Amino acid sequence: MAAKLIKGAEVAREIRAELKEEVELIRSKCGVVPGLVTILVGEDPASQSYVRGKQKTAHELGFHSVQDSQPADLSEEKLLALIDRYNKDPQIHGILVQLPLPRHISENRILLAIDPRKDVDAFHPVNVGKLVIGDPDYLPCTPAGIQELMVRSGIQVEGAEVVVVGRSNIVGKPISIMLMQKGRGANATVTVCHTRTRDVKSHCRRADILIVAAGVTEYVKGDWLKEGAVVVDVGVNEVGMTPEGKRILKGDVAFDEAVQVAGAITPVPGGVGPMTITMLMKNTVRACKLQGNIED
Ligand code: GUN
Repeated sequence: MAAKLIKGAEVAREIRAELKEEVELIRSKCGVVPGLVTILVGEDPASQSYVRGKQKTAHELGFHSVQDSQPADLSEEKLLALIDRYNKDPQIHGILVQLPLPRHISENRILLAIDPRKDVDAFHPVNVGKLVIGDPDYLPCTPAGIQELMVRSGIQVEGAEVVVVGRSNIVGKPISIMLMQKGRGANATVTVCHTRTRDVKSHCRRADILIVAAGVTEYVKGDWLKEGAVVVDVGVNEVGMTPEGKRILKGDVAFDEAVQVAGAITPVPGGVGPMTITMLMKNTVRACKLQGNIED
């Protein structure tokens, strides 16, 4: 029997409708709207597409949204000065610097320069540390999207054997920490696999919930799955273009095989992707409330 599709796009729409109401409430009661700036350095087409999606959603939710595009040869000092300006701008509650940055700019130096209270990506070491000790102000967007998608889809995470494939700072590390914590949609037993793991397949075959953020197109095959497993595919790999110029995307899981074995699976596109953007919006609303001392 084919797996149930976990439709992130639909769940994301539901959360955005809730956020839109909250934004309107904050505006009418407190006279402020959440402000988000997205900073893009250079002209990478994939990054341009992601930033457009974030801006479009921010606009739809009634945010004050600013898109700041900078040339690829922008110096690190100029970018630091720009961040400093937004750190001090009372209309901006969230600052997102789209990654990757050009090679001449140190990602670590840039992420450290963002005021942790405005760090809606939750990449600043202060926010990473708060996450690890179980006291986060913001959850990183893709892991938060995965967790919320599982909760709202009725997937039992507590006590589950979760296997994460990938150890990136953006997905693998934070999702593994979040799912092993105490709390809603957590309390799992987590294994993290990476490029030096011996026999990744045997780990995957044990998973009740398999989260794949390997960055390799169709890395996980159908026979790597336990019958009935929940498969969350975080991969976004461009494999070509349609005649109309739209990007053709594939995940890190061989979907056509996996759908025959899994109990439930996220499609690519339309799975985790829309949840990531939605969690960024949620963080920006939270940033606005924290900075304006507005109660939940
Ligand atoms: N590049 C790929 N994913 C992300 C993300 O979640 N945030 C930022 N800022 N850049 C990214």
